[in-house]
Amino acid sequence: MKDRSTLIIDGKALAAKIRGEVASECAALSGEGRRRPKLCVIIAGDNQASKVYVRNKRKACEDCGIDSVTVELGADVTREELFSVIDKMNSDCEVDGILVQLPLPGGIDEKEIILRISPDKDVDCFHPVNVGRVYTGDPVFLPCTPAGIIELLKFAGVEISGAKCVVVGRSNIVGKPVAALLLSENGTVTVAHSRTKDLKSVTSEADILIAAIGKAKFFTAEYVKPGAAVIDVGMDRDEEGKLCGDVDFDGVFGICGAITPVPGGVGPMTVAMLMKNTLKAYKLHEG
Ligand code: GUN
Repeated sequence: MKDRSTLIIDGKALAAKIRGEVASECAALSGEGRRRPKLCVIIAGDNQASKVYVRNKRKACEDCGIDSVTVELGADVTREELFSVIDKMNSDCEVDGILVQLPLPGGIDEKEIILRISPDKDVDCFHPVNVGRVYTGDPVFLPCTPAGIIELLKFAGVEISGAKCVVVGRSNIVGKPVAALLLSENGTVTVAHSRTKDLKSVTSEADILIAAIGKAKFFTAEYVKPGAAVIDVGMDRDEEGKLCGDVDFDGVFGICGAITPVPGGVGPMTVAMLMKNTLKAYKLHEG
């Protein structure tokens, strides 16, 4: 029954606040006459969504006072060419962060490309060394989208400690690392996925539901516990081609306690956390 007031968690506002904090720190650094932090973004091929994400990252750097360089490569790029760009950026002591936008064109092994990035410049937190550090509770960088999700929950006043958290999706970028971070925050975490039996019975127990399966408006009211906090990681298109999430927003509004909108929820947080990681990398390199 729709008898509840639902908080819409404003990711755009929170991301702007975090970016503002990064910008203030960067301004203070340049006031001391020090070099600015620098991010290198590598993109290959012409995936339109990736191009939009990369443009947003470049714009965020400009706003924060972080230098950025974008290396654009063709869809026919070879692993050797990618290695060569990454090696150059690894050894450039003015480059603090290196990010290879995924997905890469078919035929390129993404794992070996990520392995080539120096772990101390891996601001995406995709390198196995950094992934391991997250799992052992000793992180240097935090994975951007998962860390953004934790910030959104805290911003909304949602208590993670002791909560039943259900993550639906097990990707290396979102599902697995957000499960690790929720566990670090003392949540009781279940990871569900496409093979999970009776998914509704699993998700409808969740105090915190993380929807990351990439299916437009999949999570209808029957999947959601009344009062739950719902974080929608989806970036999908509805039947009319309009941007929407994995959650049927109108269907669950008035049932859940809090929800992130799409757009304006998780998306802006990913970029804000990337800015934070780039500043962190700068501080590590500058001592
Ligand atoms: N593709 C989709 N999300 C991401 C991300 O957070 N980082 C990179 N590098 N590629 C992505």
